[in-house]
Amino acid sequence: MSRIRKAVLPVAGLGTRMLPATRVLPKEMLPVVDKPIVQYAVEEAMAAGIEEIVLVTGRGKILIEDHFDRAVELFETLARRGKRAELEELVAQTPVPGAIVATRQQEPKGLGHAVWCARHLVGREPFAVVLVDDLIDAPVPCLAQMVEVHARTGGNVLAVMEVPFEQTARYGIVAPGEDDGRVVEVRGLVEKPRPENAPSRLAVIGRYILMPEVMDELARHEVGAGGEIQLTDALAKLIGRQAFHGLRFEGRRYDCGDRLGYLEAVVALAAKRPDIGPAFRALLAQYL
Ligand code: UTP
Repeated sequence: MSRIRKAVLPVAGLGTRMLPATRVLPKEMLPVVDKPIVQYAVEEAMAAGIEEIVLVTGRGKILIEDHFDRAVELFETLARRGKRAELEELVAQTPVPGAIVATRQQEPKGLGHAVWCARHLVGREPFAVVLVDDLIDAPVPCLAQMVEVHARTGGNVLAVMEVPFEQTARYGIVAPGEDDGRVVEVRGLVEKPRPENAPSRLAVIGRYILMPEVMDELARHEVGAGGEIQLTDALAKLIGRQAFHGLRFEGRRYDCGDRLGYLEAVVALAAKRPDIGPAFRALLAQYL
């Protein structure tokens, strides 16, 4: 079984649901407490043993690349001022040279198209896809849970969770096969079905381990729901040809691409921080 060494982070979306914050600032740079959303995703990937992060960016997203660079002046100033702890933390958070590469999607033609833009950087090996908007707070990082399942099952592994029936039109939905309550066989996938057409309530969340053949399907550039090239449609073509499973991951997911989901992430993560948590909870109580 080949190891999962590379993770693709598509960050080319326009983030229209978070306007006006995202007029200039990439939504991936919005902070949850004191860390940009994208940093949570990169840390999760690294914790799952990923060695190379492939950012698929677009115009106006250069700040994301800058964020993971060595900020020489800042580092030197912290050193001069004797702020050792802060400096060490920043250094530890900076990926080693070559661990992050970037390519551009050029046109926002959909998530499937964004993943396909990474094909030369991924090569012919299984890889992970992490949608940064989905911030997952978990005892064992979600992608690490999936890598462990992939090592047993091989093939494609998707993060899944139950959603209310009235929300199926927001997600890719799984038609389930054999199911042990944690790992479920994927027999079919439908992108954003209306509740009456949904094969289940099992929704695909933004973490994937994919076989390289998905790139061949994406290369057809078939347009799907919303006039976009959908990753779900390319994946659906692989069902029956390769092992295909969903993992009901352990952890809590916040949709940071949406105003309420973003606010929930900020409140939840601030409330559980050992340093500011108690004071923050007391503060919050004044507003409830
Ligand atoms: P979203 O559906 O959240 O779209 O994309 P969006 O454009 O980012 O945000 P809204 O809906 O306008 O607010 C899901 C994921 O796919 C990426 C996004 O960056 C996000 O991680 N994506 C989407 C691309 O990289 N390229 C695309 O063409 C579309």
